[in-house]
Amino acid sequence: MARQGASNLLRKARKAKSDEFYTQYVDIQKEVEAYLEYNPDTFRGKVVYCNCDDPFESNFFRYFILNFDRIGLKQLITTSYKPSPVANTQLQLFGENETVKQTKGRPKVTANKFIINSVGDIDGDGEFSLKDVALQLKQNKKNEWAPLDGEGDFRSTESIELLKQADYVITNPPFSLFREFIKQLVEYDKKFLIIGNINSISYREVFSLVKENKVWLGTGMGRWISGFIVPETYELYGTEARIDENGNRIVATNNCLWLTNLDHGKRHQPLPLMTMNDNIKFSSHKSIKGKGYKKYDNYDAIEIPFTDAIPSDYDGVMGVPITFLDKYNPEQFEIIDINPHFFSIVEQGLPKPDQLHITGQKDPYARILIKHRKV
Ligand SMILES: C[S@@+](CC[C@H](N)C(=O)[O-])C[C@H]1O[C@@H](n2cnc3c(N)ncnc32)[C@H](O)[C@@H]1O
Repeated sequence: MARQGASNLLRKARKAKSDEFYTQYVDIQKEVEAYLEYNPDTFRGKVVYCNCDDPFESNFFRYFILNFDRIGLKQLITTSYKPSPVANTQLQLFGENETVKQTKGRPKVTANKFIINSVGDIDGDGEFSLKDVALQLKQNKKNEWAPLDGEGDFRSTESIELLKQADYVITNPPFSLFREFIKQLVEYDKKFLIIGNINSISYREVFSLVKENKVWLGTGMGRWISGFIVPETYELYGTEARIDENGNRIVATNNCLWLTNLDHGKRHQPLPLMTMNDNIKFSSHKSIKGKGYKKYDNYDAIEIPFTDAIPSDYDGVMGVPITFLDKYNPEQFEIIDINPHFFSIVEQGLPKPDQLHITGQKDPYARILIKHRKV
């Protein structure tokens, strides 16, 4: 029992630990600007809520504050999470503030809410920075900074009340609560732009939204998100882990992506493709050139091991790698299903459909089953 308790604790600790990955400013900027390029009025007159964000750490808060007027935001709401290891660690940035209760001379750890309605260069140093936000919060009655009653859990009543006031939720939520997070956004019919792990696509609830074109990928995957800032206590792992010029500890991953229901230009660009005959003659992939396409033994579809090898003129169902979703244009293709191997990894213990097979070949890992809309 004791051993089990310890391993449970470890598992929990690992789980909690894996939630503290902070998004870099450049990655937020690159993604959000893509929506603005598609529609410069995306945020005009809108309320953005970052509901897993400590403003002292969050580059989501920073991006929206620094670009508040340029993008025409009406309001930015941010709430922090009390159990986070960084909660209230940088309150000195905001100086003395009557809203911060003190415990033994130190700021008492609370979850906080920030409601920003206007921004401006208050200290007159020629630029707008977080210092101005601090001064503004003190002076400007239009903005609000107050401790929350609870822990700032995105599922709490007070966070949900703020959610109801928001048009968009834009954040990197805790990965361990991703299903609940996206479920809540759908339940409250919110527009969102959030970061998830590639595995999240294969969650039944997420995949069915992707299939119905209610949710799609942002403008890139793989190394599109260049890395996350991690706390001191985190191990710097991976070949691309680094410490940046500001001393931030960065771990790079290639398994994260943006999930959204905001429109962007990339998803309307058709994927340029060759016909089946041309693929067989000219494909750069050895398994296709001169050989052609295999049919699955147990599903009426052909196996396409590479997205760029999708034939333009095949009118049946095709099994393509998950990375296809990065090129998915809903006017060009229809999503039929997802192959179960992926489910079996992330949905252990649940009944799963049959694994796709091809005689004499290793089972394909993860496949999305698609069809051309028109040939
Ligand atoms: C992946 S980190 C990202 C932080 C920040 N959004 C960013 O992108 O830099 C997720 C954050 O959510 C916080 N968190 C964990 N559980 C939460 C919950 N139930 N409600 C709100 N925030 C939570 C964690 O403390 C952590 O700081």
